[in-house]
Amino acid sequence: MIKRSVVLGCGSYLPQRLVTNAELANRIDTSDEWIVQRTGIRQRHIAADGEFTSHLAINAARAALRSADIDPQSIELIVLATSTPDNTFPATAVAVQNGLGITHGAAFDLQAVCSGFVFALATADNFLRTGAYKRALVIGAETFSRILDWNDRGTCVLFGDGAGALVLEAQDLPGTSADRGVLTTHLRSDGRHKSKLYVDGGPSSTQTVGHLRMEGREVFKHAVGMITDVIVDAFNATSLTAEDINWFVPHQANKRIIDASAHKLHIAPEKVVLTVDRHGNTSAASIPLALDVAVKDGRIKKGDLVLLEAMGGGFTWGSALVRW
Ligand code: ACO
Repeated sequence: MIKRSVVLGCGSYLPQRLVTNAELANRIDTSDEWIVQRTGIRQRHIAADGEFTSHLAINAARAALRSADIDPQSIELIVLATSTPDNTFPATAVAVQNGLGITHGAAFDLQAVCSGFVFALATADNFLRTGAYKRALVIGAETFSRILDWNDRGTCVLFGDGAGALVLEAQDLPGTSADRGVLTTHLRSDGRHKSKLYVDGGPSSTQTVGHLRMEGREVFKHAVGMITDVIVDAFNATSLTAEDINWFVPHQANKRIIDASAHKLHIAPEKVVLTVDRHGNTSAASIPLALDVAVKDGRIKKGDLVLLEAMGGGFTWGSALVRW
């Protein structure tokens, strides 16, 4: 028997305010047609004034705890992936821990931009498999609307706000690929690509928060290769194949990147969970938001093999295979 991190529940939260492409086109020189054709995005949710990343995260965490049907006090570890924390410090995870009324165990943030959720999942999985903790909350939560340059049509149309969370529990299982839980995770990074996707401010450099800057075409060029490489690593580590996958739940940056990745990996289009049309790119929140949609609508069921992947600023990229 070995320890596996098994998903007990998931939940998500989207801010109320919905911003359509048409509304953006009233403010900047863009069009619904351009945005849909290049990205697949039709709308995004934007946090209200005074609504912080921690508020979105707490709502998502509460929903995940309800779906797991467990006592919040049994959570010993909270790993929150975000690039848009409430404050430079303390960690937003600690605000979430406090909001849930938990004062034991550990809570910390993890920063890997759009790959943050996969990195957070891998981190929590490693703590659970060593036996350090029994139950963990893994959260992706973002308010990217706060770091966008709303006059830059090349970036501001792409992103949205939201949060999603999973509850994981360490369980002793046989150790085969038929086990439930996180079967494998693979993380990568390469700082040579910083200038292609970054925020032009920070506490140590400018003492400001800064705005997101991106060479979209350059990011696009690298995305599919990096994504498919790290998924092949996951297949090689488990002897599972694209045929075995029930659901592909990629980071939701751009429909064209998702379609091209699925095509290259021979993953059938009907197995791809797509939410970028409704949510935009919510960075670290996009995977758990998409997971929650597919669980709620009955697609992802207990025992299904789910493939996750993400690529983002850094560059960072990663994959995970999870049997639900
Ligand atoms: N509306 C209308 N026109 C626009 C807009 C807009 N919102 N944005 C740019 N344009 C114009 C440009 O000015 C340019 O005009 P020009 O030819 O007159 O100079 C033209 O459209 C083409 O611009 P490109 O940037 O070359 O357009 P491209 O086809 O590359 O599409 C896009 C841009 C959608 C950003 C694409 O490059 C992309 O998706 N890249 C990947 C980005 C991504 O996924 N980032 C996130 C991954 S990591 C993470 O999630 C943080």
